[in-house]
Amino acid sequence: MQNFDFQNPTRIVFGEGTIAQLSTLVPPAAQVLVLYGGGSVTRNGTLDQVRAALAEGGTRTVHEFAGIEPNPSFETLMRAVAEVRERRIDFLLAVGGGSVIDGTKFVAAAALLPPEEDAWTILQTHGRSITRALPLGTVLTLPATGSEMNSGGVITRRATHDKLGFMSPHTFPRFSVLDPTRTYTLPLRQVANGIVDAYVHIMEQYLTYPADAMVQDRLAEGLLRTLVDIGPRALSEPQNYAIRANFMWTATLALNGLIGAGVPQDWATHMIGHELTALHGIDHGRPLAVVLPALLQVRRDAKRLKLLQYAERVWDLREGSEEERIDAAIARTRAFFESLEVPTHLSAYQLDASAIDPLVAQLEKHGMTRLGERRDITPAISRSILEAAL
Ligand code: NZQ
Ligand code: ZN
Repeated sequence: MQNFDFQNPTRIVFGEGTIAQLSTLVPPAAQVLVLYGGGSVTRNGTLDQVRAALAEGGTRTVHEFAGIEPNPSFETLMRAVAEVRERRIDFLLAVGGGSVIDGTKFVAAAALLPPEEDAWTILQTHGRSITRALPLGTVLTLPATGSEMNSGGVITRRATHDKLGFMSPHTFPRFSVLDPTRTYTLPLRQVANGIVDAYVHIMEQYLTYPADAMVQDRLAEGLLRTLVDIGPRALSEPQNYAIRANFMWTATLALNGLIGAGVPQDWATHMIGHELTALHGIDHGRPLAVVLPALLQVRRDAKRLKLLQYAERVWDLREGSEEERIDAAIARTRAFFESLEVPTHLSAYQLDASAIDPLVAQLEKHGMTRLGERRDITPAISRSILEAAL
């Protein structure tokens, strides 16, 4: 096992009816800004629950900022930053999915920069320039990203098609409220995206090379098997509380740092996927389902030992030669995504070989030239992965 330093300070308040606890979770005299997206939380009653809870147990002043879009934009978030400064907000509450939570983390850090400083620096330094941030909490409505219990965010600059991430110990949520009933109104497409996103988060931290991390491996395999078990029912039984609760907690554990501590990590699927989202506007989870099976195929020698372990422990594949077991494990992975109606080929998005040059150029522009757990995925190998994904 590799050395590691793991701290996750986010308090999780989980279960039906827990939004009411905002009355004690949010400081009683805070100047609060509630941030949300395009209106789903208004339509499904979540925002009303939030407003009612914030009105209890204190003398808070509550303002709202609506309109954080999927793949949150720098441009919109800078308007929120202006509002935070103008109203002297001292606590941020994100109500929504990964985009709203990521955006709120960015606002928390950007609002405390000197006004003359360019907030895009936060992305250019991947968060290293962040020295402080406003406190924030979240109410999660979409299990997928793990943003509710990690310190990361991904922000898009629309004008230049730049989609970049940041991480900072200052941008962990203080708390996150996870009420599985708040996911009942999700469109099935978003549920499927969320299952794929969580699955690929686990794979990015698990399917690398053996590092004698027995606990992390078993945890990762348990989470993967849980997603395989509950994925179809999360789609077919949208109001099944037990299924949604397990899905929600799995997605959180997939990317809260626990399974990634002390192990090598890949993340090439995500970096290539972000370019597909930035150039072609495909929702975050979906390009991952295209890239991962192709990446496993192209990297099968470098990942051989873990692919065999994955085949046996996640898919119960014990028969046949090593090559046959690896082929079968990749095929099962692809079939699982397809069973959720998430396509696994670029052709499903009307993209052909002519799309590859611009994607590789974007990776180079963003410095993504040494990807993967061994930092040996060059632009030429990213190109092979994209070709295998056609
Ligand atoms: O905007 P509203 O109206 O709220 O609608 C949203 C949005 O259209 C809707 N939605 C959310 N909860 C709902 C609901 N609709 C009905 N009922 C509900 N309960 O779902 C749509 C998608 O929401 P979004 O937040 O964009 O999805 P997701 O949670 O998948 O977040 C994606 C973003 O997170 C980033 C991605 O790059 C992308 O920008 N990621 C963040 C990570 C992190 N912080 O660690 C890691 C991930 O790998 C990922 O990169
Ligand atoms: Zn993701």
